[in-house]
Amino acid sequence: MNGDKDRTRVLGIVGSPRRGGNTEILVDEVLSGAAEGGAVVEKIILTELAIAPCQGCDACYEIGDCVQQDDMQVLFEKMQHSQVWVLGTPIYYYGPTAQFKTFLDRWYGAHHGGIVSFKGKRAILAIPLEDTKQTSARHTTGMFQGALDWLKMELFATVVAPGAHKPGDVRNYPDVLDSARVAGKKVIETMESSK
Ligand SMILES: Cc1cc2nc3c(=O)[nH]c(=O)nc-3n(C[C@H](O)[C@H](O)[C@H](O)COP(=O)(O)O)c2cc1C
Repeated sequence: MNGDKDRTRVLGIVGSPRRGGNTEILVDEVLSGAAEGGAVVEKIILTELAIAPCQGCDACYEIGDCVQQDDMQVLFEKMQHSQVWVLGTPIYYYGPTAQFKTFLDRWYGAHHGGIVSFKGKRAILAIPLEDTKQTSARHTTGMFQGALDWLKMELFATVVAPGAHKPGDVRNYPDVLDSARVAGKKVIETMESSK
């Protein structure tokens, strides 16, 4: 086994306010697949962090940093040192949660300030929703596609889990859990084989 510093790092980010809910379960599955593949994994719960919304002041263009110093600085370091991000949010009114969108908007300063090198990083999306139609997640998956493309990141896999309302409902869909675990394992295997 390689030392930790040579292993791919995977950062799971949970954007649901419900601890142990469907988003966290999905993110955990992806992370355990990645760990099985040999990655070092870490999980962040956005609601446990103080993250202020972007003010749109564009100071990041001038000073190369965000004027708001909060828990995003530590999170940016973790994002920078992780090659793969597992981005988890439930669907709230066809979009991501406010917590997740607040986090996402802060990437703007990290991008303009050069604090995080987004290009080439891989993302796996983990998205549960109550609706039984997968299409109700389309605005959110579209948002991710656009943002990741713009940042020249690679969208490696999207795991959408329709029909998940109460915390834990996603466990009723073992095929979805399986696809989450497989995505986590595969992303590592494909990275190791290209080293
Ligand atoms: C404020 C709010 C808005 C929601 N909006 C939608 C929606 O537009 N479509 C949908 O299918 N489910 C919607 N849901 C249901 C959640 O997506 C669903 O319960 C999900 O499994 C929650 O994930 P969690 O357990 O990780 O919190 C909404 C839930 C809340 C609390």
